[in-house]
Amino acid sequence: MPVYTFRIQRNWKNDRGTLESRYQDYSLEVNETTTVLNALEELKGKQDGTLTFRQSCRSSICGSCAMKISGRTRLACKSHVGEVARDGVVTLAPMANQPVLKDLVVDIGPFYSKVHQIKPYLEEGPEKAHTLDKSAYDQVNQVTQCIMCGCCYSDCTMKEVSEDFVGPAALAKAFRFVSDPREGQKTARLQALSEPSMMWSCSRCAMCVDSCPKDVKPMEAIVKLRTRGIAKGFIDGPGPRHALAFHQDIQKWGDLNEFTLLQRTVGIMGSIAELGTAWHLLKKGKIPSPFPHTAQGVEELSKIYQLLEEHPIDVETKAKEVVPE
Ligand code: FES
Repeated sequence: MPVYTFRIQRNWKNDRGTLESRYQDYSLEVNETTTVLNALEELKGKQDGTLTFRQSCRSSICGSCAMKISGRTRLACKSHVGEVARDGVVTLAPMANQPVLKDLVVDIGPFYSKVHQIKPYLEEGPEKAHTLDKSAYDQVNQVTQCIMCGCCYSDCTMKEVSEDFVGPAALAKAFRFVSDPREGQKTARLQALSEPSMMWSCSRCAMCVDSCPKDVKPMEAIVKLRTRGIAKGFIDGPGPRHALAFHQDIQKWGDLNEFTLLQRTVGIMGSIAELGTAWHLLKKGKIPSPFPHTAQGVEELSKIYQLLEEHPIDVETKAKEVVPE
């Protein structure tokens, strides 16, 4: 059997209560199909009883063994050593974007407080429908696969720079309620989700799609929420204004009018605040032309737009509304 090096980030609180951190190497002879969780158990049982990590179901169900494995957040019980090792080394660290408690264990409290922010339960209200059909099931089916492991939250690049951002898991859950015909407050939810640090704060880097062990595709849910928010008229913010400006330019010119894009996104006052950046760009000769450029074959593009409006490809995005009887 091959011998792997497990390079594990050890974290502990010193006497002053501040977190200290260092990497420690362990050698272990294991089969390449051994899971990282089994390897960790063997290390803890035979080499170092102080090694601390979370686990419960061992079957990719509870989400508690999520950790950084060779640079990406994954479930230890689902990752095989041979697949995640780089030149015979498996690097393990706690999840990012969450306070570290000890070794590979993080405080999941902040993650759950973000989930609670979107009210993860059905609410009574005027938009509640009393009949369900298969399309309703299809709407919520994918996002209900979420096991709340926090992998997406840990790999989210926007969480890294914005403490307030609610995060991909909470937004995927929000989509689950906005899509559920039994939900009575769909519009109110979309309004709340249009506020700062909610659905429009996602940068669409797609890391959440990549890291999700259950193929929930949180970013797709976020895009669908945005589509619904705009359809309900919640367009008074930089996010929806930016999206609409893109939409209008591509439909009309086949190209972006970047000269006016900022003003259309953040308004006159927001543009004035960016005058310093504009001056810097001007000096570098990077100010775009104020005259819109028309792309070749824009008529064809307009036809594609029209077709997509009439026959949307993604049935979940524009599925028929289920309205109260
Ligand atoms: S131990 Fe439950 S998901 Fe890994």
